[in-house]
Amino acid sequence: RNIALMAGGYTGEYEVSINSARNIAANLDKEKYQVYTILVNRNNWFYTSPEGENIEVDKNDFSLTLNGEKIKFDAAFITIHGTPGEDGKLQGYFDMIGIPYNNCDAATSALTMNKAYTKAIVKDILGLHVAGSVQVFRGQKEAVPERIQQLKFPLFTKPNNGGSSVGMSKVSVKEALPEALEKAFAEDEQVLVEEFIKGREFSIGIVKFDEEIMVLPATEIISSKEFFDYEAKYTPGVSQEITPADLSEAQNTRIKSIVKEAYRVLNCKGMTRIDFILQEETDDFYFIEINTTPGQSANSLIPQQVRAAGMNLGEFYGRLIEEGLK
Ligand code: DAL
Ligand code: MG
Repeated sequence: RNIALMAGGYTGEYEVSINSARNIAANLDKEKYQVYTILVNRNNWFYTSPEGENIEVDKNDFSLTLNGEKIKFDAAFITIHGTPGEDGKLQGYFDMIGIPYNNCDAATSALTMNKAYTKAIVKDILGLHVAGSVQVFRGQKEAVPERIQQLKFPLFTKPNNGGSSVGMSKVSVKEALPEALEKAFAEDEQVLVEEFIKGREFSIGIVKFDEEIMVLPATEIISSKEFFDYEAKYTPGVSQEITPADLSEAQNTRIKSIVKEAYRVLNCKGMTRIDFILQEETDDFYFIEINTTPGQSANSLIPQQVRAAGMNLGEFYGRLIEEGLK
């Protein structure tokens, strides 16, 4: 089969996406799948041939012309973090031209990219614990909304549609808020201002194969930085990631059931990963966000969890493609 591996994107997670694509391509079964990595940026979408020639994708029928031969794709494997691969834009395009893909549909992708709306839904429908937060829109940033005053410091400021902690700050005093908002607004039109929850941090992958939901082993993240920031996420040794996490049987059962419910209620497909804080005092799991295009670089959390579950990563990626083709 011909697979278009969609990488790159418009955000600060461009490099992360390139590394995810490299690892996916390296693991996919080469007998079964002919993989073409397509780099997406604001100006064009292109494939670099083995001879080093950049060939542009024809977006009318999603094809490439290589050495005079037209190549069409059986499926796309989207591994772009953030827009336009995680927020429903590419999903909408592929739906319109009838190309199957590996992750959530356009509506779920668009919804879950927005951390504030996702938290509102899981809180309202499932009663999950979420950190108190306020979504600030660009036009409002000068007159910081009243509601922020009611949040308890320390706070986190994050691009509401962001990832990998790009543009994120931890704010301990009121005076530091304007600068932190500025940094987050440099990445996004909306910023989430969120209360800090003191506790242990966990992240859990979940996938659906053949209508059956499978929860992967949880990872605990212990960051030696102030929080699990971009550097801690991608510099080996700066954070410790423990898979499977050291959770009691009761905690494990609870978190697995929460992850399943969230996956169902958000109508997810393919592989996603949900981040939580286990609050120290109450032993409650706080839902932070869901990632519908989680990182896949060699050391990323999902590859760790797949290995910890005793599965082969190449087979896992192959099943995601087959699942999309159904
Ligand atoms: N946004 C990054 C890639 C992740 O969730 O893994
Ligand atoms: Mg994320």
